[in-house]
Amino acid sequence: MAGVTNRAYRRLCREFGSADAIYVCEMITARAIVERNEKTLHMMSFDDDESPRSMQLYGVDPVNLGEAVRIVAGEGWADHIDLNLGCPVPKVTKLGGGAALPYKRALLARIVDAMVTAAQPYGVPVTLKFRKGIDDDHLTFRDTGRIAEEGGVAAIALHARTAAQRYSGQADWDSIAELKAAVTTIPVLGNGDIFSADDAVAMMAHTGCDGVVVGRGCLGRPWLFAELAAALRGEPLPTPPRLGEVGAIMHRHATLLAEHHGEERGLRDLRKHMAWYLMGFPVGGDLRRSFAAISTVAELAGLIAQLDPDVPFPVDAGGPRGRQGSPGKVSLPYGWLDDPQDITVPRGADVMHSGG
Ligand SMILES: Cc1cc2nc3c(=O)[nH]c(=O)nc-3n(C[C@H](O)[C@H](O)[C@H](O)COP(=O)(O)O)c2cc1C
Repeated sequence: MAGVTNRAYRRLCREFGSADAIYVCEMITARAIVERNEKTLHMMSFDDDESPRSMQLYGVDPVNLGEAVRIVAGEGWADHIDLNLGCPVPKVTKLGGGAALPYKRALLARIVDAMVTAAQPYGVPVTLKFRKGIDDDHLTFRDTGRIAEEGGVAAIALHARTAAQRYSGQADWDSIAELKAAVTTIPVLGNGDIFSADDAVAMMAHTGCDGVVVGRGCLGRPWLFAELAAALRGEPLPTPPRLGEVGAIMHRHATLLAEHHGEERGLRDLRKHMAWYLMGFPVGGDLRRSFAAISTVAELAGLIAQLDPDVPFPVDAGGPRGRQGSPGKVSLPYGWLDDPQDITVPRGADVMHSGG
């Protein structure tokens, strides 16, 4: 997740999670890799013990994406490469990227071919993550599944919403079941509205999918992966952390971010996580505001000391968190819907972006 799953946060999640989970890095723009942009190379870093090193790319141009994969796989930057076909942010879709791209079936097939061909000599699997389509009148997930199978993709993940829905409403798990039934040669992962271990078990039962992808549910709850792993093994769930333990996790997160980004930038980055960590806990407004404005690890430690460590995890904090927003028309390049077989890459499509 852009702005969230940097090296520090992935480490924190791994410290709770299970060995068979994959923690994907923030989305990386293919062209920035090709240009060896310094900030991008920093975003692409992994811990020495991170395995697999999983990287998600963003791009629209098969040439850039193929070249980026050659660099990432050939130079050993990562062990797994995913392609972002789900980002609904207007600045991305209006250039034909993210969730807009699967509509162009022939262009997508070329991209898949370029990426898989570039990755194959190094044994690096390529996967796709996509939405149901642009909107209810332009559903593409069935075609994307077919293109993935035909193109040698190793696995696919469906976020069961359209781009027009953004993060609103309920994910349509039936579409995951439909995709799973249609795609028989590669694993199909389901995504959308998994906020608890029970949700993961329910999605797998409902759809028959081979695994689940978690987005917002882990915001401020890196321990969710321990709960998911236990539930999927049929074991009792670990007790959710009390406020004192949450404080210790926040402190650990701060320390890891300070190592990754330096203290100033790292703690600025941590601010957005504060409301997620404290969601539902009885913490007064002043203290909450102070958490959201922290600048140093020492300052954070002082605030954590003011929390009541014995407060149990709130029963109502297990539900939705993070972006929800409202549905809206999807910004697309001019004439984008005219011809699904057109392979023209919109001008300026691969300029640098971040988003989700
Ligand atoms: C802050 C944020 C950043 C995101 N960034 C990405 C991203 O870079 N790549 C991606 O494939 N999905 C991204 N997503 C989408 C999630 O991976 C996921 O598909 C979506 O949130 C639905 O799953 P959920 O209901 O479990 O949250 C992002 C979501 C959020 C909330």
